[in-house]
This record gives sequence, C-alpha cells and structure tokens, in this order.
Amino acid sequence: MCGIIGYVGDKEVLPILIEGLKRLEYRGYDSAGVAYINPEGITCVKSVGKVEALSRRLEGYKCQSTVGIAHTRWATHGLPSINNAHPHIDRHQKIALVHNGIIENHGYLRSMLERDGYRFVSDTDTEVLVHLVEKYFRGDLSHALGKALCEVEGTYGLAVISQDDPEKVVVARCGSPLAVGLGEGEHFVTSDVAAILNHTRKVIYLEDHELAVLTKKKVENATTSVSMYTEHLHCDMYSRAEEIQWNVEQIEKKGYRHFMHKEIHEQPESLLNTMRGRMDRDGNVRLGVFFEKEEALKSLKRILIVACGTSWHAGLVGEYMLEEFARIPVEVEYASEFRYRKPIIEEGTVVLAISQSGETADTLAALKEAKKRGATTLSVCNVVGSTIARESEGGIYLHAGPEIGVASTKAFTSQIAALYLLTVFLGRRNGLGEGDASDMIKALREIPEQVDNILHREKQLEDLAELYKDSENVLYLGRGYNFPVALEGALKLKEISYIHAEGYPAAEMKHGPIALITKDMPVVFIATRDSTYGKILGNIEEVKARGGKVIAIATHGDREIRKKVDHVFYIPEAIEPLTPILSVIPLQLLAYHMAVMRGCDVDKPRNLAKSVTVE
Ligand code: G6P
Repeated sequence: MCGIIGYVGDKEVLPILIEGLKRLEYRGYDSAGVAYINPEGITCVKSVGKVEALSRRLEGYKCQSTVGIAHTRWATHGLPSINNAHPHIDRHQKIALVHNGIIENHGYLRSMLERDGYRFVSDTDTEVLVHLVEKYFRGDLSHALGKALCEVEGTYGLAVISQDDPEKVVVARCGSPLAVGLGEGEHFVTSDVAAILNHTRKVIYLEDHELAVLTKKKVENATTSVSMYTEHLHCDMYSRAEEIQWNVEQIEKKGYRHFMHKEIHEQPESLLNTMRGRMDRDGNVRLGVFFEKEEALKSLKRILIVACGTSWHAGLVGEYMLEEFARIPVEVEYASEFRYRKPIIEEGTVVLAISQSGETADTLAALKEAKKRGATTLSVCNVVGSTIARESEGGIYLHAGPEIGVASTKAFTSQIAALYLLTVFLGRRNGLGEGDASDMIKALREIPEQVDNILHREKQLEDLAELYKDSENVLYLGRGYNFPVALEGALKLKEISYIHAEGYPAAEMKHGPIALITKDMPVVFIATRDSTYGKILGNIEEVKARGGKVIAIATHGDREIRKKVDHVFYIPEAIEPLTPILSVIPLQLLAYHMAVMRGCDVDKPRNLAKSVTVE
C-alpha cells in the first residue's frame, strides 16, 4: 500500500529518494519522509501531504550523504501525521526504518517494549520494529534485524539504516513486495520498480522470509522467519536478476491496462488485508477497543446504515446478514435522503456510515445529522483518517489499499467482508453460538482463494462481453443476498460502458421490466444454489418464454441450469452471506470488458468522480 525506496552508492542520495517517491505517488499517499546518514548522525525529515511538500521542506538541507531510505505512506494504523509518517527512528536517533505491511502482533510487542522502558511516539504498528532492531543491535545491523524479525507476526517489506553500521541498507520481505535494483557501484531497494527505472532496469525480486544486505559493492542475502534467523549471508542472489522491459506507466498499473482491471485482480489480497488479524479459529472477531468497550453497543437495538453508490449496495448485503445472524433490525438509507427527511433516532440506534473514500458529502452530512439527533455513530471506510472516519465514534478500516479506478470494485468486496466480521462480532453477543461463528469464520478464510479461482477464468467473460458489447439495455436480476449484487452489476455496467442497465429483485421483474424483454435484451441472472434457487429458476423460465437471452451466474456443479439458459459462468460454492463477494466478480469483469471493447475511458468515466464532495 505504501511506497519504499532506498539507496547506497556514490551519488548524493536525496535527489534519488525524492524522485523515487514522486514516481510512487500515483497510489494516493498522505505523508512522506526520508532518512539518510551523515557524519554527525541520522537526519530524518517528514511531512504530511504530497511528496512536493516534503521536497519543499528539504530545500534548505545540505545533504552529502550517499546512504538513505524514504517512504510514502497510505495510512493503515494511525492518522496521517508527522509522528505516524515513516521513517521511524529509535530512541538514540541512530537507526531509521521504513515499512510496508501490517505487524499483527504489534500490540503485544508494544506492551513488551514499554515494559522494557521504550517510549512510543506514534500510533503505528511499524514503530515496534525500529525499537526491536535497536534492542538487538550490537554493531551489525543485519544481525539485529534478523533477530527482531524472529518476534514479528504479519507482513512486511522494510528497509533499515544505522549510523553505527553506516555503509549498508538492510532490507527484508514477508508478504509485501520488495525489489533490489542493481547498478554500477550502487544498489537500490524499492517496493515498486517504477521508482528506480531511471537508474537501472536490472532487479532482483526478494522472496518471502528473505533478508538482504545492500552495500555499494554487493548484495548478500539470508533467510529469516518467526523464531529462526540463519546468520549466514550468501552472495547467490545475482542469478535471479531480471531485466525490466516495461515502462513506468505500465508498472504503475502492474502491467494491467487500467487501474480498474488491476483493482479487480487485487481482490484476493485486499480481502485478506481486511480480515488480517481480526479473527481467530474459535469464531472470535476483534474489531478494536471501541467495539469492546462501548456501552452503546451493548444496548444496541437498531442499526441504520447510510451510504451512497456502491457502498450503499454493500450496506444492503450488510442488512441481510446483520438481521439473519446478529438478529438486529437494520435499515439502509441513501445518505442523501436520510438527511432531508425527519428520521427517528431512538435510544439504542447506531448509525453506520459506509464510504470507500470517507469523504462523500452526502454520507458525511447524514452522519453529522445522526450525531446531532443523538445516535452513536460508526463507520466502515477505506481511507484512514478521512473525514467520515474521524467524525464517527468508532469504525472499521478496510485496509483494501488505494482505489484509483472511479468504479469501485475491491472496496465493495472488502466492505462486505468488514460487515460480515461485524455481523459475527455482534452475533456472538446476541445468541450466535461459538460453533456457528467459527464455521462462519472458516468460510470467510476460504473466500480469497475462491475469488482467485474466478479470476483465472476471466477469458470466458471476455468472450461473453464480445457477444453482448453492442447491447443497448441489460437487465440484472437476483434474489436474497444476490439482489444487491444485481444492483451492483448493473451500476458497474452503466458507469463505465454507458449501456443502460437496471438491477431488480428477480421476482419484481413481472411488475414492470418484463415488458422490456425481447431477443435483443440480455438478462443476467445471479442464480446460485441458495435458499431462493428454486424460485429464481422460475423467473429464468419467464424470461426464456419471452425470447430473452439469459446469462446465469451459477454454483459450480449445477448442471441443470445449463439446459435452461444461453450462457453459464460458474462460481465456487460459499455460504449465502458470502456469496455476493464471489458473484459480483464476474459482473465486474463483464462490465470492464464490455466497456473496453466499446472504447470507453474505463478509469475515468464521463461525468463521474471518484470522491463526490458536493451534496
Ligand atoms: C461516487 C463513486 C462511486 C462510489 C460513490 C460513493 O459516485 O463514483 O464509485 O460508490 O461515490 O463513494 P464512497 O467513497 O462514499 O464509497
């Protein structure tokens, strides 16, 4: 999510770091910082906002250093602020460290270090790393980092420098990408090769549990993992060096043609990040101190969800699952409507705002209105430190990473995962048994792999898109948990391809939309094997009887449906409340390919904005 660049060589380090950070900024960052080694010690400069702000702050600095690291942050733990920005520095100001990823046991490590007298200045999970490295430092930085990482659970791509071992940058990876750039008498480290392409095209991608020591002359590596660090450094990485063929534009999009396509493919990872560290095998969900302590949640009687667009669709899925498993009455409102009617907020009402950006004006206004009327306010946001996140009393961050494509994709699936976690959490307090909760958690753990399975069969959806790209209208129908998916499928298509599309509850079709059905009207049925399956087969017959063309999203192994429809796309079997995460993926891809084939600007559709900050 964040960006890292580091350098060791003969050149002045600052321009290299700043230029690298600018190349990483496309991912939407909120603060940045650099640290480099001077004869007098480590200089560390940070700023909130764009890299340009950091660059301006550095104007007066005389830097002759040739060893340094830098970071652009996209906040996960703690608001965007100078203290929370990286690099983090140890108590003697001799070690600096930058990190991408999430340290899951940071709470435990923090209390352990605090007991040993360490003082923390940030709210980040990262800060524990720099104190741990300092704790183990005896003159050799790679040894200290290797020892520190033995205690760490979670994901990291990191780089560290030390004034007392000044000619190296030590780096390590577990779950967050990191590459070493090879130059003549110089080496680079980066989370994203776009940052170093102006200097070298030769890179070695680090593997998980690999630690590497970069000096001017060489790169050495070693293995590290929880409870084990092989002290022995090798020089055998060079055989893995690769020549980068892509240009910067392609690298920013990781080789995908559009951000939207990249973000659709990131979903196995973004979903994992939403779940990470929040659940255990016994069905217990941890959502943070607010959820554990807040009295209002104990006397909770009703949840009112406010949101717009795709987030509103996620809210509808949330309504179904919260009512079914947590047995709490839920209403979902368009934020823009909530505000201007006179909503009833009784004691025990919690208002939950859902927003990817955390800045949508209507959702923010609804949240403020709810607060004014005395409701306890919660939020589900992706952007840490966003206005809605700050205005609400408690919340769940998605950790889905920056979403750049205007049409929301990975945020939607992460919102459903977050609402599912909230359902299990509240359900456990409201009669959901331990066994059922642990089955629900088990089912959620399987989801990222199931999403991956769907993404591997993208070609089939591309072929379907080719067949239907010239349609003028498309109808999306679903029942139960798949009704909001029908709405979302239709929204995706109209947003980016400008084809008119409607989502409807399948049974409502006969009260109007059925009049539209002709042989030129494709109808997408989300017809997975669930409690409404029998009924939806009936609705399919009604469309076929009128000559409509039917595309079905069905459950793996359902041979029967093949005989009734024109095309089937299979998705893996999942429990009902999780089905939307799977059934929406083919609809995202179908919309994407139809739009691309029609020559539309997928990432920036006409008239739309990523963050709508006007009411
Ligand atoms: C805009 C975007 C949509 C998004 C909606 C709500 O209309 O184009 O993709 O769903 O705003 O945004 P939020 O950031 O509040 O989820």
